[in-house]
Amino acid sequence: MSQRTPLIAGNWKMNNLAADAGALCDAITAGLSADTHADVLVCPTFTALVPVQASIGNSPLKLGAQDCHANEKGAHTGDISAAMLADAGCVYVILGHSERRTDHGESDTDVAAKVAAAWDAGLKAIVCVGETETERNNGSTTEVVARQIENSIPAGATAENTVVAYEPVWAIGTGRTPSVSDASAVHAAIRDNLRRRFGDSVADGTRVLYGGSMKPDNAAEFLADPEIDGGLIGGASLKAPDFLAIVDAAG
Ligand code: PGA
Repeated sequence: MSQRTPLIAGNWKMNNLAADAGALCDAITAGLSADTHADVLVCPTFTALVPVQASIGNSPLKLGAQDCHANEKGAHTGDISAAMLADAGCVYVILGHSERRTDHGESDTDVAAKVAAAWDAGLKAIVCVGETETERNNGSTTEVVARQIENSIPAGATAENTVVAYEPVWAIGTGRTPSVSDASAVHAAIRDNLRRRFGDSVADGTRVLYGGSMKPDNAAEFLADPEIDGGLIGGASLKAPDFLAIVDAAG
């Protein structure tokens, strides 16, 4: 079990109309035990942020978004600023998810600019990294992830403003996962990288989440590892009982 407060984050992706999102949030807040040890977060799509925030009410559940623009405001049709997300009640924003890197060609440099914008707006950035299956088979996982960490997290990272999510691309939505010991080794390499760049207190305090087919039946095993500080959950976060079971597994 990690020495850091675990974070269990639901990435709802492009799912749920506002009414469904509100109902899912209601079911999560109703089932969340008051003495849960973990920080718990849901990240709905933009149009559901405001209704979900209303449904969160006084619950300890936190709200996050799935992307933001690097600029503060201006002529960027179809985009959303970090300040707009904060205004809607967001505390976190997921940045550099592999689906955005693939669907929108986001580079590490793009991600770093978004991370800086998120920090400027007072948001905590959840920076996603992870290797493809080819990269894993080539034996280049550590090198790929180190490069992503190095270039996607700008100067100024702290344990409070940054969370890293290690998500092997081949494990996302596939039902396949690395072994806990393989994931743990990558988490340790990520932490070494943070230590070199930002020093001991940032490295020791920053939460590194595992993501990619985390489910109720494998969560306890991942979350028992001292290097794994929580989960970024896609599919299983869309069903309240499954998401709550993962929160319970975090202790
Ligand atoms: P998954 O997605 O849990 O459905 O694999 C995780 C993610 O993409 O964040």
